[in-house]
Amino acid sequence: MKICFLGCGNIAQAIIDGLLKSGISSSDIACIERNEQRVESLRAQNLQIIKLEDLASIDLDLIVLAVKPKDALSAEKRIYKMTPKVTILSVVAGIEIEKYSQPHSIIRAMPNTACAFCKGVTALYAKDHDSTAFNNANSLFTRVGHVLALQSEEEMHRFTSIIGSGQAFLFQVLNIYLQELEKITSSNHVTAKLMFQDFISSLGDSFSQDQNFESLINKIKSPEGTTQAGLESLEKNNLDKILQDAFQAAEDRSIEISNEK
Ligand SMILES: NC(=O)c1ccc[n+]([C@@H]2O[C@H](COP(=O)([O-])OP(=O)(O)OC[C@H]3O[C@@H](n4cnc5c(N)ncnc54)[C@H](OP(=O)(O)O)[C@@H]3O)[C@@H](O)[C@H]2O)c1
Repeated sequence: MKICFLGCGNIAQAIIDGLLKSGISSSDIACIERNEQRVESLRAQNLQIIKLEDLASIDLDLIVLAVKPKDALSAEKRIYKMTPKVTILSVVAGIEIEKYSQPHSIIRAMPNTACAFCKGVTALYAKDHDSTAFNNANSLFTRVGHVLALQSEEEMHRFTSIIGSGQAFLFQVLNIYLQELEKITSSNHVTAKLMFQDFISSLGDSFSQDQNFESLINKIKSPEGTTQAGLESLEKNNLDKILQDAFQAAEDRSIEISNEK
């Protein structure tokens, strides 16, 4: 499969990292990027750097559109000017298929940066789930993690919040933990970070062993104990609502972006 990324920032780089890890050859990945620093880094990974104008002369299975929402519609028009028949796989948040100039050739995807480790979760939507292009998109994201094919585009807002943004909310929570850990390991931040790395990985190990958070929590807490006291404080301060509000805010913003364009 020959793929071109237009916009090679954070999410494109995560997908590219995963694809390379999954065995795709760097010669099958072309990149169009305007940021010079990023271009240097792509070159260092032996990826092919091309110009938008080159699209006219390259045979591609998919173009992954991975630019910020404000740049997406103009970039799509420029792609189709160069290569009218290609399918665009848009990872752009909030912009619905009908907003693009050639809606029938757009597939939407909402991946997360865990694709870099082939542990991503990607929601995928197109009007036609049986097309070769949709199958290609499905195989691309299956290489870098799990794929959820959506039946309606409307669902994409919720997935954008939970898959795209949700990871950052958990990072934010873990960062608070790391800051506390750094306080008790005094000035030795390197040690704290190393310990933290193992600690986070052990959370995944624990979940693999027992996929039930209630039971995992029960193994730590005892009646009237310290964990119980902390958990009661979290409940009193409405942790559930705080996180649910964050998911809702991200979903609302996704809807807002879709109405802006
Ligand atoms: N980051 C995530 O975790 C994530 C997850 C899911 C979906 N998304 C979606 O993915 C899209 C990209 O996000 P990102 O975080 O990867 O953004 P980003 O890091 O800013 O990457 C976008 C890159 O595309 C370049 N670019 C923009 N227009 C271009 C053009 N016409 N030709 C060549 N290069 C162009 C930008 O250059 P400049 O810097 O010069 O503008 C930038 O380097 C967004 O729409 C976002 O909603 C992101």
